[in-house]
Amino acid sequence: MVEFALPKNSRPTAGKMWPKPAGAKNVREFRIYRWNPDDGQNPRIDTYFVNMDDCGPMVLDAILWIKNKVDPTLTFRRSCREGICGSCAMNIDGANTLACTKDMGTIKGTVSIYPLPHMPVVKDLVPDLTRFYAQHASIEPWLKTVTPQPEKEWRQSHEDRLKLDGLYECILCACCSTSCPSYWWNGDRYLGPAVLLQAYRWLIDSRDEATGERLDNLEDPFRLYRCHTIMNCAKTCPKGLNPAKAIAEIKNMMVARQS
Ligand code: SF4
Ligand code: SF4
Ligand code: FES
Repeated sequence: MVEFALPKNSRPTAGKMWPKPAGAKNVREFRIYRWNPDDGQNPRIDTYFVNMDDCGPMVLDAILWIKNKVDPTLTFRRSCREGICGSCAMNIDGANTLACTKDMGTIKGTVSIYPLPHMPVVKDLVPDLTRFYAQHASIEPWLKTVTPQPEKEWRQSHEDRLKLDGLYECILCACCSTSCPSYWWNGDRYLGPAVLLQAYRWLIDSRDEATGERLDNLEDPFRLYRCHTIMNCAKTCPKGLNPAKAIAEIKNMMVARQS
């Protein structure tokens, strides 16, 4: 696993106040977390002013405006700009969400932007998701079968397919896991809501034939049982999913196989 240095003082200090756009009448203030582990400085909060008459409606539009017109060093991830890739996940106005689908009209006053909480920072708004992806790989997120491969395809009834609704839509943005207090404190051993939702997605798939093996892999005081039903995960998910419910279903499956 790649380890990134943590800042000596992780509480950011006031940073640079960038100039207001000349002649703009409709200006909005943004306070954005900045930290470059390579420059030896501590984290800071820079203040930017965006000309809203020259900018799209979403937070990602404003961040791109800042990068293109004010400060090219501002660093963040983004790709699809329509809530599909999950790469623009960040903490906006105190909640984890996707910058590309977060309407600035829903935020009052200054817009505060931080990286996803309790993750090592690569730079500015880019968290290190190495452990998160390794945890996802650990649940073996692919179809596992023992019966011989069918001639054409693995078939599934319409009814069984519907059981995947509310699960397959997950874009692995990590908003839920990084809002979960249990994951903050035990993220090295607890799999967290996103990965457990993915685990349930394969447990409940009628075509999969590794249910017992998958449950064995989760039967551990930390990997599964650190969820205390705090529900931050369901509250924050930008796709409207409910990882806590999926976790509860896995626990039910554990009980059912013991009885
Ligand atoms: S469950 Fe929701 S918040 Fe969590 S990773 Fe999937 S899409 Fe993101
Ligand atoms: S319900 Fe479980 S997984 Fe979701 S935030 Fe709470 S402790 Fe974390
Ligand atoms: S840029 Fe892809 S989800 Fe926001």
